[in-house]
Parts: sequence; structure tokens; C-alpha cells
Amino acid sequence: MKNELKMDTLCVRGFSYFEERTGSISFPIYQSATFRHPALGKSTGYDYSRQQNPTREEVEKTIALMEKCRFGYGFATGMAAIAAVLSLFRPGDHILATDDLYGGTVRIFDSIYSNYGINCTYIDTGDLDLIEESILPNTKAIYVESPSNPMMKVSDIQKIAELAKQKNILLIVDNTFLTPYFMNPIALGADIVIHSGTKYLGGHNDTLSGFVVTDSEDLSGKIQFYQKAVGGGLSPFDSWLVLRGMKTLALRMDRIENTASFLAGRLKNNPFITKVYYAGLPEHKGNEILKKQAGGFGGMISFETDTEERAISTLANVKLILFAESLGGTESLITYPLVQTHADVPPEKRERLGINNRLLRLSVGIENEMDLALDLEQALEGKS
Ligand SMILES: Cc1ncc(COP(=O)(O)O)c(C=O)c1O
Repeated sequence: MKNELKMDTLCVRGFSYFEERTGSISFPIYQSATFRHPALGKSTGYDYSRQQNPTREEVEKTIALMEKCRFGYGFATGMAAIAAVLSLFRPGDHILATDDLYGGTVRIFDSIYSNYGINCTYIDTGDLDLIEESILPNTKAIYVESPSNPMMKVSDIQKIAELAKQKNILLIVDNTFLTPYFMNPIALGADIVIHSGTKYLGGHNDTLSGFVVTDSEDLSGKIQFYQKAVGGGLSPFDSWLVLRGMKTLALRMDRIENTASFLAGRLKNNPFITKVYYAGLPEHKGNEILKKQAGGFGGMISFETDTEERAISTLANVKLILFAESLGGTESLITYPLVQTHADVPPEKRERLGINNRLLRLSVGIENEMDLALDLEQALEGKS
């Protein structure tokens, strides 16, 4: 029955619906590092919380269910989840990745895993021919963010998955921006999905978390082993916070998307703005692909102001919208990707991608849409 439930029901009820043993509606926080063995060679199924913890398992199974696959693993942060996935590769392996990835992902590829002989080439994964041309004999995976961070570039996951299968390489999708509520990359043919659960899944700007999900037994076994061997698994309390946050994922995503679409329309007509990047705008490249592959466009908008001074003064002038890193929470946040999320991306690459000194990125929250529009407009105008 679980697989037949609609996504909004899955969000609220999770994997277990309620806890079987006590009937607890809110899944309990099993705040125990270790578990008593009934006898030598016997286990309750739980030995030590680095390995398994009931609260973490509940959130892992819930994410897997929402992503329409069998296996999910919870980590302390999105980056810890990405590190777990990168542990699948060996020296000499090559990865092709979207050229416009979250800066922290570029940092882990170029400053950590490159030291272990795993190299990454960044390309426009919106261009299928370019992907095919760029596959090397040692390419083991294609790593995609769609829409990407911060330029909202869209990749055709279904077509990339077909190509990856032909070439016998993995397709890994960071689905943080759309969440399982709007898109299920595994159902579109991807092998692994990554989430920064810090964002929409947790949804309240109050906890960090990361997830790896897959339908492959082989990949699942390797990620599970990594979680047990290295640690970094999500704590029981943070697992519970994500479970609680996810109960309202559907409501939040619908609301956030409506507001984002309203704000993107107003920003397009603002005299101080020269470009708006929002995947829900009909003229946005890839809008048609998302209409087919996703149930929505999400709540992330980037836009370019007419001058650098205006971008900087907007950050100082916003009153309701908060100037802070991160995204996907109940509170609307604005960032300056050039010096915040993408400082680790080389300057010439940033400029080529459009991450310039006039670009701002807005994560739309659940406040009233008109309050947000007026705050943004007064901040851009700079009269305060
Ligand atoms: C798309 C994306 N993936 C991964 C991460 C990393 O997640 P975390 O900050 O939870 O480690 C982020 C963080 O901003 C992100 O935006």
C-alpha cells in the first residue's frame, strides 16, 4: 500500500505511519549510543548507533519511499552524503559534472578527492552531445544538479540516464532544489540521488542533514558499509527534526513555488534588475524539460541587478528577507553567491557561468508573498 500513497500523505506519515511498539504518533528519538544484546550472537537488530539507529532508520526509509526506491542513508550534512558517494570511486576514475554546482561540491571534488586521484571535468550538462563527447574511457559517473546552484540550469535527467546506461557509468543527481515532492530522479533512470536535507526536507533552517538514496543493492551495500566504517551518520535528534520537517514538505513546497513564481514575475519587471533566473519562467532554458520530468520548479530564484553597488546595497537594505547562506527553509534568505556559496569556484569559471558581482540568489520562504515583494523592491530601490 505504501508505494501507492500520494507524496503528500507519505510526507506526513513517513515509513511507519506511527511507532508499532508504543503507538507513538511522533516517531520516538532513540537517543542511545548502544543497544543491549539479548545473548551472545543475538541482536535486537540494533547494536551501535553509528551502524543502525531506529530514528535514523525511520527517516532513511521515509526518504527512500519518497524517492521511489529501496535504500536511503542519512548523514550529518549534505557534504557528508556527497563524501559517502565519492567513496565509491578509485584513483584514476573520472567524473563529469554540471559546470554550475554548489561551490562546496566543487571544493570537495577539487580540493579533497582530486588528492586521491579522482578527477572531475565540469561541463554544461544541459548539452547532451557535449556530455557524450566528454566521456573518457575512465569516466565512471555523471554528476548533475538540476536546476543547478545558482544559475538554475536544467539538465535532461531521462536522456542523460539513457546515455549513462549505454556507457555503463553511474548517474548521480543532487535533488536538493526540487526535493522528492517535485522530482524523482531514480524513477527517471538515475542510479543515486543526493540531498542536502538541511534545505527543504528539514525545512526550518534549524538542522543540518544529508541523504543518499539508491535502488541498487550493490551501491546500497557500499554506502551502508561506508556509514558504518567512517561514521558521520545523522544523529537521532536531527533525524527526528528532519522527520518532523518533512511532515509539511508538500504544503511548504506548494506555497514556496507559488510565491517564487509571483516574485519572479515581479522581478522581471523591476527597473533595477537586468536578468532573472527562475526555472518556472516559460522563457527559462529547460522549462519544458522540467514540465515533463518534475511536478514543479521549486523556490530558488537568482537575479542580476544593474550595478554591483545595487547588489551590495540590496543585501544591506532587506528587512524581512534575511542576508544569510543556505536555502529551503521557512524564512526567505538572500545570498551573494560570488563571495558566499561560490567563493571556492575559480574566478574565470564564475565569470563564464554568470556568477558575477551583480548576481543575488533568493531562497523563497513561506512568508506572505506581498510582504516579500515589497521588501525586495524597497531594498532594490535603496531609499531606506
Ligand atoms: C545543492 C546543494 N547540495 C549540497 C549542499 C551541501 O549541503 P550541506 O550544507 O547540508 O552540507 C548544498 C548546500 O548549500 C547545496 O546547495
